Amino acid sequence: MPLTTPTVRDLMLRAWENHTAIPGFNIPYLPMMAPVVRALRDTRCFGLIMVARLEWVKFESGGPGPIHAEYQRQKDDRFTRLHMDHVPVIDEDNLQVDYEADLQEAIDLGYDSVMVDGSRLSLEENIEATRRIVARAHPQGVAVESELGAVMGHESGPIPPYDELFASGKGFTDAAEARRFVAESGTDWLSVAIGSVHGAISAATRKEKKVEARLSIDRLKEIQEIVQIPLVLHGGTGIQKKYVLEAIANGIAKINVATAIRQPYEALVAESPEKALEAVYDATVQMIREDLELEGSADVIYPA
Ligand code: 13P
Repeated sequence: MPLTTPTVRDLMLRAWENHTAIPGFNIPYLPMMAPVVRALRDTRCFGLIMVARLEWVKFESGGPGPIHAEYQRQKDDRFTRLHMDHVPVIDEDNLQVDYEADLQEAIDLGYDSVMVDGSRLSLEENIEATRRIVARAHPQGVAVESELGAVMGHESGPIPPYDELFASGKGFTDAAEARRFVAESGTDWLSVAIGSVHGAISAATRKEKKVEARLSIDRLKEIQEIVQIPLVLHGGTGIQKKYVLEAIANGIAKINVATAIRQPYEALVAESPEKALEAVYDATVQMIREDLELEGSADVIYPA
């Protein structure tokens, strides 16, 4: 093992340079963390344990503090780091969020990386919000992810039929805007909108099966050619596999997964908490091994 522990920023760069990816798994219920860490270790896959603001507002993750405390109990430095996912400036219900306070809390607690989501803002406002978080995070050695374009699905209202959405390219990240955004914001990683959608999270729809999304690999290539930083794919559940593999080959270095491991937990927890945890383990292994083909990735990006 190297003498110094690599930062998550180093590991993301290594994943990106090697055309592999780091999966991030969302934890909306604290007990889910243990089987996710176990699955990462058993598949020798390096991954991120993540929580998004909506997972303590609308689910039962408890907040940045409880997630961090559980992470201290479960973590395995060889295979995991802790990431604060989506803290939006404007949330999925169009409400203003005190995003700087939430992200400062995560930075102070010792999260390895954080995401500021200014994707519902204008380009200029998104750059400004991201710069503010970079200025807080970088002096503490914390990496920053941000988003440009709209990865839809978290909103409670209906979204257009998927085929229409994909064909129109509505909300897709614009490559020229991405160049300016990255240069001016100082972000380390950029979440791009290229066809994926988030799994629904409103109480009425969260059990629904996701659409099998496609990706515009052409748009991804265009963005990656002029933006030379690791790119992030949100909405990782249910994307057609050939697109995911092509995306990893073309600059996607991190893939966020929530619905694929949440739904099996929710389906079983009332009947048997033990069965629910085994289902989380099985779904995480399946995602790493079959859907993303990332088994053994730790040996590539974090060689012993
Ligand atoms: P899914 O729910 O589609 O897996 O998306 C997760 C995600 O992008 C969280 O940021």
